[in-house]
Amino acid sequence: MKIYVAEDYQSMSRKAANIVSAQVILNPASVLGLATGSTPVGMYKQLIDWYNKGDLDFDQVKSVNLDEYVGLAPDHPQSYRYFMQTNFFDHINIDPAATNVPQGLAADPAAECARYNQVIRGLGGIDIQVLGMGHNGHIGFNEPGEAFELETHVVDLQESTIAANARFFEKKEDVPSRAITMGIKSIMQARQILVVVSGEDKAAIVKTAFTGPVTPLVPASILQMHPNVVLVGDRAALSKL
Ligand code: GLP
Repeated sequence: MKIYVAEDYQSMSRKAANIVSAQVILNPASVLGLATGSTPVGMYKQLIDWYNKGDLDFDQVKSVNLDEYVGLAPDHPQSYRYFMQTNFFDHINIDPAATNVPQGLAADPAAECARYNQVIRGLGGIDIQVLGMGHNGHIGFNEPGEAFELETHVVDLQESTIAANARFFEKKEDVPSRAITMGIKSIMQARQILVVVSGEDKAAIVKTAFTGPVTPLVPASILQMHPNVVLVGDRAALSKL
């Protein structure tokens, strides 16, 4: 695993954007695995900036997102589809038809998971998967205790995850209790993984995940077994490593 220590959130975002840019420049038809959450927002901003300067072209890029809440429409302001549109896709020249996010309103979420697995396979797999981390070590929405061998599936969100994400909703009761997420197996099949972490509140889980035992109780700990992981964090998030 490679670790980059950045001074602050902004330089962490810039470093992460550099890594994604390198992928897109070297392979203009890359398949990007993308993530939501507040951590990668600065990275998306930086990529948009370089796109506007003419340094990046997303014309042939394809994307697959990690997860989506069950029950939220694509235009719901807290849906992950909406997040991706407003934070990234609407500002670059990626083909809208080449962007994939699980469908939160699918009548049959299990069938949607199977479809999503086919989408990932059809694209030939993921070249680089961007990941944030939850405070309990979740990646995507793979909560502690999830089997490592799952592909895209429906999960019940833990109370702590619902509480952590409640800040984006009017009230906690509005946070959906279920989500569709790529599984650990799907994530581990990505050819490269870019983990972004920021802030002192992530320091303890970063230490546990990357220096502790590999266990389903800390989903991100499995990343220790991936041959091509880059961890980019600011000094605060990496302070306990
Ligand atoms: C959500 C997302 C995860 C993300 C996590 C951390 O639960 N499903 O993909 O990594 O939040 O979010 P943040 O970056 O805001 O701390």
